[in-house]
Amino acid sequence: MNPELDRAAEIAAEYLDSLDQQKVRAEPDPELIRAKLHKELTDDGLPPLQVIEELADDARDGLLNSASGRFYGWVIGGGVPVSVAADWLTSAWDQNAAAYACSPTAAVIEDVIAEWLKDILGLPQHASYAFVTGCQMAHFTALAAARHKVLADQGWSAETQGLAGSPPIRVLVGEHHETLLRALRHLGIGTDAVVDVAMHDDGTMNVEALEAELKKNPDMPTIVSLAAGDLNRGAFDPIDAICDVSHAHNAWVHIDGAFGLWAAASPRYRHLVKGIEKADSWATDAHKWLNVPYDSGMAFVAHPEAHKTAMTIPAAYKIEVENTRDQIEWGPEWSRRARGIPLYAALRTLGRNGVAEIIERCCDLTRDLVTRLGGLDNVEVLSEPIINQGLVRFLDPNGDHDARTDAVIERINEDGEAWFGPTTWNGMRVMRISLSNFRTTTEDIDRTVKAVEAALQA
Ligand SMILES: Cc1ncc(COP(=O)(O)O)c(C=O)c1O
Repeated sequence: MNPELDRAAEIAAEYLDSLDQQKVRAEPDPELIRAKLHKELTDDGLPPLQVIEELADDARDGLLNSASGRFYGWVIGGGVPVSVAADWLTSAWDQNAAAYACSPTAAVIEDVIAEWLKDILGLPQHASYAFVTGCQMAHFTALAAARHKVLADQGWSAETQGLAGSPPIRVLVGEHHETLLRALRHLGIGTDAVVDVAMHDDGTMNVEALEAELKKNPDMPTIVSLAAGDLNRGAFDPIDAICDVSHAHNAWVHIDGAFGLWAAASPRYRHLVKGIEKADSWATDAHKWLNVPYDSGMAFVAHPEAHKTAMTIPAAYKIEVENTRDQIEWGPEWSRRARGIPLYAALRTLGRNGVAEIIERCCDLTRDLVTRLGGLDNVEVLSEPIINQGLVRFLDPNGDHDARTDAVIERINEDGEAWFGPTTWNGMRVMRISLSNFRTTTEDIDRTVKAVEAALQA
């Protein structure tokens, strides 16, 4: 009846099947991509099947094949096929996951997966939760709850009084992602509130330095933000000790575990998040290491009242259904996609062991890749993987290692067999290795090492 649906499913399946043979990179010339996609808007439209066929052809060159097993840029997962299939159903059902009355199925699925996720991630079952677009909005949601609590403790309501004239808040951080700072900006806390706590050489927060900082201003409303897996090295702050020290000083502990929180799913890596259950809020993603399609992040909060007060929204036309949960009371959005459905399908398919297996396999393969790259001439390993992140650079006989590193990365990506991202770390240009894709195999690692070798020789 709608042939465009069948055809789109066919094209999508063909795309995923072909990833192994595709170059990873997208067409580098924006003009060529624009030339394909910049069509004239017609008055009367076009047949849907034609639109789908042309879309598939025209979009192709501009797709960065980050779903490939040889993609190591940023922190990007793939999508386990069952979650992609469930995502298609999510679109077809087109539920508004704002409230129970809008979609009982979407609401109940979120209740169910929240329980499963808390179990897998080792979080307390009493924690409240919100399913959001990603870790950025998870920070926003969790820190809104933190803002509420630390100011309410001083008799101030952020929700009704705003922040003009409020007691100032400080946010103590070690390694942190830029999205944390943006959440603070969105929340009106501002980046001037951020205090950098001294760190050890391994990128973890120095607990004594934190304690000294906390003692400096014992009555100040304080949030301590920790990294469970930082972007570059995958370093874990000492969560257990920091929670104890922070709570002794009445501070709220927030954890950025965009990908690193998933270490909790693996018996082999769980020790890295020891004490995780003691924190006050957690932000993480499912679109990274759980390998479900974008957009899929979660905030969890150990203080449901603070969370709900920060997010609640009164509306005369809301329909209350007894004994049910309305998602709009807990998240920053009103109308939204039923983004829990792909997660539900992924978790049911993988089970606890399947999730652990993805985490452990990615870590093993990252270690293998970094070790083998380190064995090549003039490759310096700057950070051995703790979990699924590594850093290397390429040494130049004339000493310009930064230029050499950028040039080699460009060559690898241009060739298209694999894809890595550059960054500046500790004042050096480096190549980041981030492996979060369930699809990556040992053959992918072999192919990647060969591609790097070829780029080094070119
Ligand atoms: C440690 C960390 N925190 C937060 C984020 C932001 O996550 P998202 O892009 O899902 O908002 C990232 C993204 O890579 C990350 O690595």
